[in-house]
Amino acid sequence: MQLTNEEREMLEGKQGNAVKKSMEILVALGEIYNAEKLVDIASVQIAGVSYSNLGDAGLGYLAELAKDGKVKVLTTLNPAGMDLENREALGIDEEFAKKQKMVIDSFAQMGVTVTCTCTPYFIGNKPEQDSHVAWSESSAVAYCNSVLGARTNREGGPSALASALTGKTPLYGMHLDENRNAKVKVIVEAEIKDTFRFGALGKVIGDKIKNKPAYITGIKEASVEELKSFGASIATYGGAAIYHMEGITPNKTPIPTESITVTQEEIDNAIKELTDDCEVDFVSVGCPHCSLKEIEYLAKLLEGKKVVKEFWITAARPIKKQAEEKGLVKIIEDAGAKFACDTCCVVAPIKGRFECLATDSAKGCYYGAAKNKFKVKIMSIENLVEEACKEVKG
Ligand code: F3S
Repeated sequence: MQLTNEEREMLEGKQGNAVKKSMEILVALGEIYNAEKLVDIASVQIAGVSYSNLGDAGLGYLAELAKDGKVKVLTTLNPAGMDLENREALGIDEEFAKKQKMVIDSFAQMGVTVTCTCTPYFIGNKPEQDSHVAWSESSAVAYCNSVLGARTNREGGPSALASALTGKTPLYGMHLDENRNAKVKVIVEAEIKDTFRFGALGKVIGDKIKNKPAYITGIKEASVEELKSFGASIATYGGAAIYHMEGITPNKTPIPTESITVTQEEIDNAIKELTDDCEVDFVSVGCPHCSLKEIEYLAKLLEGKKVVKEFWITAARPIKKQAEEKGLVKIIEDAGAKFACDTCCVVAPIKGRFECLATDSAKGCYYGAAKNKFKVKIMSIENLVEEACKEVKG
């Protein structure tokens, strides 16, 4: 791989140990994937922030880099294991909280913006079309490549941090046009609206074509919220880092000759598959993290009601702040629902606390079941609010 003089010096340690270690990671990755060179990046989003993922080994690694490492570009974090300001209300124990805080402190020491969210594009980490970035969270990667038209591979936590500390990433994969082009045309013959149905569509397509980039036709319109739900789902069930939606997403691509069809029956079946037979005791909205518009809608639905089940609304803290300024947080909290910033129903250590999660997110269903062993029910936001207010049977 070709390195500039400056990059070679970074690799030799002239900019300190953290930069040296980071360059070693990036050069090794570049060589594995036959990258011709490194490119400058506009921003970074780092996943693997929860102490439950990192453990003490990860914590030690971060502390070592924090001794002399400083990020060179705007860098935000994926959700952590708890709300950093509201752990007690969400039932997170003190020992975990102490370790999680140490993780966050190391990132802060390196100059990382310690807002922990999987929707960084709602809080100012929103790269321009065709700019190169290094993001980790799979739903954010799908949104970044497909909806924003910026370019990122799905980075692991260490490679994203290495990019943050150097301002570089190896030029391969999603950074190159040929890998971004659609490979399969997907003709949708079903009516798709609302976040939960877009999630079901992502599951059907992901199950069928795995991680091949899709060129999707038949969708008349899609809101930002529906696209974030769809991208999270297609990345979860198929592993795709990019998709194209005719008339909706901005990237140009040749239209593939291979095609498949998605029917209404397949969407209905996907929804059935994500509907276990269980009594809901936990409701969560905000996978990926809520937009202000979603919070506005939830406030409208919850106004004057009382929830009788644990109800989390997960969002980036700056979005909650905007909601607070508009009086929405008070309406929601008066109804008994809780905000969970910096975290979510999947990364928080809540296994065993609940049995049946209801959510509008197909991704939330997948990981809620896989990681926290919940039974799950997917449904619309309106039905979630209804469910949260419904007395438990028996
Ligand atoms: Fe975000 Fe957690 Fe869902 S990180 S995409 S809310 S599983």
